[in-house]
Amino acid sequence: MVKRVLILLSLLGLALGARYGLGTPISEDLALQYDLRPAVLPDGRGLPPGEGKVEEGGRIYAEKCASCHGASGEGYPFNRLVAEPFPITPDTEPVEYAIGNYWPYATTLYDYIRRAMPFGAEGSLTNEEVYHLVAYLLYMNGITDADTPINQTTLPKIRMPARELLDLDPETKRRFPWLTLP
Ligand code: HEC
Repeated sequence: MVKRVLILLSLLGLALGARYGLGTPISEDLALQYDLRPAVLPDGRGLPPGEGKVEEGGRIYAEKCASCHGASGEGYPFNRLVAEPFPITPDTEPVEYAIGNYWPYATTLYDYIRRAMPFGAEGSLTNEEVYHLVAYLLYMNGITDADTPINQTTLPKIRMPARELLDLDPETKRRFPWLTLP
């Protein structure tokens, strides 16, 4: 009975939605007005064209990120970005969590930096600058070489050390069975 009422209600919702023109696709102008940036998914969908280089990323990092994340990403006053050990263990202190030891996908780094950093001036980085920063941060975390170009094709292929944390624990059948998030 409850199920039937729910189905009826959702059909009614759909009908009303159609009647009031809900769910219209957003126009490009409106998206720009709201400063929406498309999401970048773990498999790389949504990544824009462009290419990042470690050296250039280091220059941008020093100028726009180091004041909050430390000269080499060691953290302070805010989050540590460059990590040891690889990957985290149950004994790792949450303050040690960083890109190299608990980010499961490299593409998320692109999405996050473009959307949320630098803190206080979010959205000010160009797509190209974000690629440079991602290249630099992956290199600093020991995940890529100094000459690995970071782009639409290479970034989704990078296997992050913390990817294995997403595998199900064979005993508990849970992900992150021992992890306390910071
Ligand atoms: C004014 C200070 C400030 C600046 C400048 C800044 N950040 Fe951040 N950053 C933060 C804060 C605060 C957080 C934590 C935000 C949260 O947890 O919601 C953060 C979080 C991050 C994280 C996620 C860390 C994690 O593992 O959870 C990344 C990656 C990052 N910043 C990259 C950058 C990059 C790249 C730049 C330079 C373009 C930058 N930040 C500039 C303050 C800053």
